[in-house]
Amino acid sequence: MTNSPTILVFDSGLGGLTVLREVVAARPDAHYVYVADDAFFPYGHHSEDEIIARVVPLMGELIRTHDPDLVVIACNTASTLVLSHLRAAYSLPFVGTVPAIKPACAQSKTRRVSVLGTKGTVKREYTKALIRDFAQGCEVTLVGSPELASLAERALGGNPISDGDILVELTPCFVGNPQDAGARTDTVVLACTHYPLLLERLKTLAPWRVDWIDPAPAIARRVSDLLGTRIGGVAQSGAKMIFTSNRVHGLGAMLTPFFGGRVPA
Ligand code: DGL
Repeated sequence: MTNSPTILVFDSGLGGLTVLREVVAARPDAHYVYVADDAFFPYGHHSEDEIIARVVPLMGELIRTHDPDLVVIACNTASTLVLSHLRAAYSLPFVGTVPAIKPACAQSKTRRVSVLGTKGTVKREYTKALIRDFAQGCEVTLVGSPELASLAERALGGNPISDGDILVELTPCFVGNPQDAGARTDTVVLACTHYPLLLERLKTLAPWRVDWIDPAPAIARRVSDLLGTRIGGVAQSGAKMIFTSNRVHGLGAMLTPFFGGRVPA
């Protein structure tokens, strides 16, 4: 690759920005196209067949239009379902985002891990296979959250979100004896890319301290390894933000930190 590589980052909405910011930090030399499929948001409310039928042809159009060198599917709800279809249909590398069950179970001391994802992600066969293969004797609690991704979008847009609304989604993650730090959940996997947007609220509202596992840094390392050596001396390349609804987003300067200081066109 002699020119600045183009990385296309795809999500149902704004959650993938939490992956984008790590990838941008790892690869400031790349050109970025961020695609939010907001016309179909939230993916967590769609059936498996609907998501496959939506994402596979849409990705074909995006590849034809933007000619990326690599695509990041920054969405667990999509990755746990469409990665194999995308790899079969298109010849460029795809990096997915799937629940970080293996590292979470490897580090849990109480052997109690919760996986907080969309309703779609927690019922996927892919997620169940990760638990079968990597739970390492841990008790894994799957928590399918119907509204947290939408709450995160609203919060990012500057709208007030009540503690009560967040707590309804969060509380089922905390299992075991609240009085006994050795016999209760100590690790929560953030299995939806929207949730790190609410991380400070989640930490404040949690009934006790836990480790929150966000796979974004690991995804960024994988992207960087696949792209190979960085291009030295290349000035920051550009960035583009696309909403499939064609809406005028009005997010303005709020987006800039996720793009490593770039102002996306
Ligand atoms: N950001 C997506 C994920 O990682 C999900 C949000 C949605 O339901 O569309 O799963």
